[in-house]
Amino acid sequence: MEKNFKRTLVTCALPYANGPVHIGHLAGVYVPADIYVRYLRMKGEDVLYICGSDEHGVPITIKARAQGVSPQDIVDKYHGIIKDSFSRLGINFDIYSRTTSKVHEKNASDFFKKLYDDDKFITKETEQFFDPEAKAFLADRYIVGTCPKCGNPNAYGDQCEKCGSTLSPEELIDPKSKLSGAAPIKVKTKHWYMPLNEYEPWLRDWILEQHKEWKTNVYGQCKSWLDGGLQPRAVSRDLDWGIPLPIDGAEGKVLYVWFDAPIGYISNTQELLLKSWKEWWQSQDTRLIHFIGKDNIVFHCIVFPSMLKAHGDYILPDNVPANEFLNLEGDKISTSHNWAVWLNEYADEFPGQEDVLRYVLCANAPETKDNDFTWKDFQARNNSELVAIFGNFVNRAVVLTEKYFGGKVPPRGALQPIDEEALAQIPQCRKNLEAAIETFHFRDALKEAMNIARIGNKYISDTEPWKVAKTDMSRCATILNVSLQICADLALAFEPFTPFAAERLRNMLCVGVKAGYDHRAGEGKPTVNFYKAGEGRALHTLPSSQSEPQAGSNENAFRIVLDWEMLGSQDLLPEGHELGKPELLFSKVEDSVVEAQIAKLNAAKAANEEAAKAEAANEVEPQKAECSFDDFQKMDIRTATVLAAERVPKSDKLLKLSIDTGIDKRTIVSGIAKFYAPEDLVGKQICILANLKPRTIFGIESKGMILMAQQGDGAMRFITPQETLHNGSVIG
Ligand code: 2FM
Ligand code: ZN
Repeated sequence: MEKNFKRTLVTCALPYANGPVHIGHLAGVYVPADIYVRYLRMKGEDVLYICGSDEHGVPITIKARAQGVSPQDIVDKYHGIIKDSFSRLGINFDIYSRTTSKVHEKNASDFFKKLYDDDKFITKETEQFFDPEAKAFLADRYIVGTCPKCGNPNAYGDQCEKCGSTLSPEELIDPKSKLSGAAPIKVKTKHWYMPLNEYEPWLRDWILEQHKEWKTNVYGQCKSWLDGGLQPRAVSRDLDWGIPLPIDGAEGKVLYVWFDAPIGYISNTQELLLKSWKEWWQSQDTRLIHFIGKDNIVFHCIVFPSMLKAHGDYILPDNVPANEFLNLEGDKISTSHNWAVWLNEYADEFPGQEDVLRYVLCANAPETKDNDFTWKDFQARNNSELVAIFGNFVNRAVVLTEKYFGGKVPPRGALQPIDEEALAQIPQCRKNLEAAIETFHFRDALKEAMNIARIGNKYISDTEPWKVAKTDMSRCATILNVSLQICADLALAFEPFTPFAAERLRNMLCVGVKAGYDHRAGEGKPTVNFYKAGEGRALHTLPSSQSEPQAGSNENAFRIVLDWEMLGSQDLLPEGHELGKPELLFSKVEDSVVEAQIAKLNAAKAANEEAAKAEAANEVEPQKAECSFDDFQKMDIRTATVLAAERVPKSDKLLKLSIDTGIDKRTIVSGIAKFYAPEDLVGKQICILANLKPRTIFGIESKGMILMAQQGDGAMRFITPQETLHNGSVIG
């Protein structure tokens, strides 16, 4: 049975402050959350919208070390960039704080202390890798060595980025500490663990029985974790960046980042609502929803709920609508390879087109499976949906009203069947849209909003008011009246999805909108927002007890205030209402713009390939199996000089060399055509293996082998004596 909640607490995964956010983050977490929050607020629900930066964890310390700055410098920089990017994309959390805040440090410590005092942890002493020179325990990422699977000499203790294998530091060949280069040793250390195994029966019931409605990808992942059996999880780390363990006997230890980060949701609520935060986190009347990406499912569905349960004072999530991943132009988005569309760059390069990205990422959201973002699709959706359908319809309705009726809503005469049919479809679209959003099917919800635009666009094309105007002005008035009612429907239906365009549309229609409670003002000031037309995004706020703007408070802006409940009602704009100035809702994305973005990605790809080559050049082959001195003695290695060189016909690899070995003059065929031009070789002194059994290659008898040094990237060079020696000098 549906529970009756009084308020909804929406949290969004706290992004790591070690890089800017990209479209993958937006599509997976923040666009759906923002749509949900805007929608609920329009419906008049009380919603709190919480996020912030996740500022602890090993990757931040690695980045800091690589750049020669402090971890605090790194998080300060990216916290600012991320916060700004969200707000530029219209994602306005009630609070966007950070896990390095004082409030959070205290709250996370208190949380740990309560669990500790209540005996909810177990401790274990295990052997961990330790750098004896730097005198520090090493996270797996801080250990590098050779991958046992592919020979990559720069594999990490948790993963080889070359072959993608998951590794443990024990598996690395010749492991070294990234801190000092010393070989790590194992040292005993004590850590605190959440005994997740003890929560397994409760989790099975809570998730698998009581939350069968969760998205199948989320439910399925939980089930497979539970079926695999849960193990105790360490919640402390030996690290110097993080929140110190607030207990004696734990010097040098901090909270594991995944212990402190989700508590950040609570801390940020406390920071915003000093007194009333408890009703959001401790009242059964609150519906808690976590928006996250699929890599966070286990933490939000299993680990954090177990922590909340162990603590005892907090509510549990009602739903965790996690999305899958978004790829970019067919490849996995990668921060380290710069294979991403960064939001701060998008906002700089596409001013005024923030909604296009929101729209495309929702239309193409990875709701049930991984999905791909391509710039061509971005362009197509903008040009053939936003511009050609939504924008085109609104533009025709508003411009024609200005032309024929001086910009005032014309009177509506008797409706004809075609008018009634168009209007009658809208309540159904609204119903479908609501049902879709409420069950976290945002793509379907957006389709329904777009259907309203399609209905309008078809209606105005079929009724042709520009032709009717020539013969029947009162019929033309009716058509435009109906069209304008649909425009007002669109201003409501699109507010959750494309809030900037919805605002432009409200400005054109000269209407405000009731957009629900807002808590950004903080403690004690829950307000109802009325977004005004014609005044940017300024808010008019009222105490929540007062449901309508007072007459005279802002007459012009509030002469008409749209309310979600009016969607589909047919009477949103009264006859005679004066419209604002027509402006284009959307503009075309030209080929050159898309080509520039693709070129930017290709440049990133080329830079990656260059970097990979440079890295490969440095790679050193593992040593071969031992050989005996006798084996070595069998090889007759000598100096020789090239007398003549030519390409071997029909081969692009081989050169035929005539050489003076000091013993004789002979021919050697060698696969070096890619590295040397024949004319560069004559007169060069080289080293050869003289007694290699002769072989016939491309019909030429080759007697011996030229010694070459080969780099990791395949490049080859002769080995030449430092000074010219007599040909035939023995090397050994
Ligand atoms: O995956 C991530 O980006 C994490 N920083 C998400 C943390 S969510 C929450 F628990 F804070
Ligand atoms: Zn490997």
